[in-house]
Amino acid sequence: NMGDEPVNLNEYQELARQALPKMYYDYFSGGSEDQHTLRENVEAFKRITLRPRILVDVSKIDMSTTILGYKTSAPIMLAPTAMHKLAHPEGEVLTARAAGACNVIMGLSFMSTCTIEEVASSCNAVRFFQLYVYKKREISALMVKRAEMNGFKAILLTVDTPKLGRREADIKNKMIAPQLKNFEGLVSTKVEDDEGSNLEAFASRSFDPSLSWKDIAWLKSITTLPIMVKGVLTREDAIKAMEVGVEGIIVSNHGARQLDYVPATINALEEVVVAVKGRVPVLFDGGIRRGTDVFKALALGAQAVMIGRPVVYGLAAKGEYGVRRVIEMLKDELELAMALAGCPTLKHITRNHVRTELDNRH
Ligand code: FNR
Repeated sequence: NMGDEPVNLNEYQELARQALPKMYYDYFSGGSEDQHTLRENVEAFKRITLRPRILVDVSKIDMSTTILGYKTSAPIMLAPTAMHKLAHPEGEVLTARAAGACNVIMGLSFMSTCTIEEVASSCNAVRFFQLYVYKKREISALMVKRAEMNGFKAILLTVDTPKLGRREADIKNKMIAPQLKNFEGLVSTKVEDDEGSNLEAFASRSFDPSLSWKDIAWLKSITTLPIMVKGVLTREDAIKAMEVGVEGIIVSNHGARQLDYVPATINALEEVVVAVKGRVPVLFDGGIRRGTDVFKALALGAQAVMIGRPVVYGLAAKGEYGVRRVIEMLKDELELAMALAGCPTLKHITRNHVRTELDNRH
């Protein structure tokens, strides 16, 4: 029945809500505290308008590009998101296959429910590995080694999570943290703690809140893979990140799941891009739901965007097919936006193709 077939990413969210137990839907969809930034991540896009150019030959649109030298069919990547088996019994393996089928790069979460090896052997997608740093450094180091040995091409070091943000739905639901297979025999990720969010209890026991700039040197000493820092929101930190020699910067507020009342990422992007001056690639995530959102982020200087929740919603609703459709719909929408805005290639998309609220003041 074609009437059931979603026509945009937001419709997959509704299907996922219907498909999932409330505890898991709340976990995937929620943000922290007042969820102010959660709403803003999406709403801020709506306040940016487009400045299309007319009478450009758009009979051929080329969305392909490279990220850290790796080819991708579009400037769209899968953000690392935790615990896909809570969305679908086969978990990250299906997500990875969908990424491979669509020729886009997959970010695999440190908190995945399939092992690094299972994901690597089940797909041909280019994969980047997202890293959290545990108090027991040797465990994080071991995960980096396993990612390297299994052909992952970069480390995305998430730096906005010294502690887990306060996600009130998870507290109320007493969110259960499953045993993560990557850590079996190394760390128990299962916490029996009836006080509230078991995930929070696990994170506060395990994540190292002392992680700081000097530790980038440690990470560089244990891997030859390029490092991108994920969670930069200010020019000050963008400059520091370049000083310590990272290969890329990801403007992200963790999908509004960490510090509430940080700006929508689309409103923080340009500050970082201006500070970086093209010296390293700047990726972006947070609130991308439409091809026009991708277009806006590229116009404001992102080299590519990552999508988080829509992928999980696709997986929950329709498995690998759902993830593929989410990626394909977003690519189709971007292609159409480029055509209608007079941009046959990504290079044609410039700052002049968008007007932000700040521009409106002048
Ligand atoms: C995340 N995110 C995340 N980031 C990370 O570095 N490691 C992780 O394990 C997770 N886990 C995770 C789980 C869930 C359910 C969500 C929604 C998000 C953050 C993610 O990488 C990304 O920054 C955001 O999801 C982007 O925002 P959107 O696309 O979800 O709006």
